[in-house]
Amino acid sequence: MLESIKILAIETSCDETAVAIVENGEKILSNKILSQIEIHKAFGGVVPEVASRHHLEGILPLIDEAINEANCSLDEISAIAVTNGPGLVGALLVGLSVAKSLAYSLNKPLIPVNHLAGHIYANFLENPVKFPLVALIVSGGHTDLIYMCKHLDFEIVGQTRDDAAGEAFDKIARALGLGYPGGPVVDKKAQEGNPKAIDFPRTYLERDSYDFSFSGLKSAVLNYLHNAIQRGETPKVEDVCASFQEAVVEVLVNKTIDCAKSKGVDNIIIAGGVSANSGLRRAFEKRCLKEGINLYRPSPSLCTDNAAMIGAVAYYLHKNGSNSKLDLNAYASMPIT
Ligand code: KG4
Ligand code: ZN
Repeated sequence: MLESIKILAIETSCDETAVAIVENGEKILSNKILSQIEIHKAFGGVVPEVASRHHLEGILPLIDEAINEANCSLDEISAIAVTNGPGLVGALLVGLSVAKSLAYSLNKPLIPVNHLAGHIYANFLENPVKFPLVALIVSGGHTDLIYMCKHLDFEIVGQTRDDAAGEAFDKIARALGLGYPGGPVVDKKAQEGNPKAIDFPRTYLERDSYDFSFSGLKSAVLNYLHNAIQRGETPKVEDVCASFQEAVVEVLVNKTIDCAKSKGVDNIIIAGGVSANSGLRRAFEKRCLKEGINLYRPSPSLCTDNAAMIGAVAYYLHKNGSNSKLDLNAYASMPIT
């Protein structure tokens, strides 16, 4: 019988305080999230110091809730996992301090986890994913293409050279007065707009490059809005959102498929907050079907930040014996940097 490894995972890298208990890297026993979105909305974006303070207030009660919901005791926990980067250092420190204290007091191993590895492993919570694969991580801070031939083996094949995809969504939403975070609302507006209404640029960079660039697209949208206002016109928000989203999606899908072909793999993972985007999911589904590629994408609630994904990576690290000493800091390097 498979030994039961239950990991208590903590994630506080940005504006979600999250605690989960995951069994054997795949079974979510509890997955609690205390979102700070409403608090940061008033500022139009995440305020790091405010985020740290709210993590501090929320984390201990959330651990109690996660344990109660999982119906297990702290004694049954095999290890404590925690996100140690990338993220806001003050926010990370809260999770790290709590994780270290728990590991020390319970005499359990401490497992530091890279946040981006977590996003990739959100897929392993729901599906038996096959290797080798190419993973596209699209979040608020990152746009990365990663090749994996086996567990915990991450080769960065491409990265954004300027804005991340989610950052571009957030900035366009802000320019349109749609509030924070921008991705979900742009996604919604795009569904009512015409993606062919405005011909925004697609940036592919050099031939054979798997890097990304979204700052030119962002500037093109801002210029379009500025010029329209100067002419006394009112831009149709739905069309701007749909045309912008189409430009982002087209580049993400084409580059990921090309990367998978160049690596000779027929498994693609999409991950991170932007992978919840309905247009991106549809475009990947259509293209992967046509190309005969297996597509893995997390349920929308597991695309954005959560602790279950951290518990999933930690299971494989634990099996490898990759535990940490308690002197771990928020800058410690991890598999993907
Ligand atoms: O992965 P995540 O929760 O946090 C980071 O690690 O950054 O990603 C947050 C990002 C934000 O930029 C948010 O606007 C974007 O994901 N996002 C979306 C959608 N839902 C969240 N972008 C496009 N469409 C969505 N439906
Ligand atoms: Zn994230």
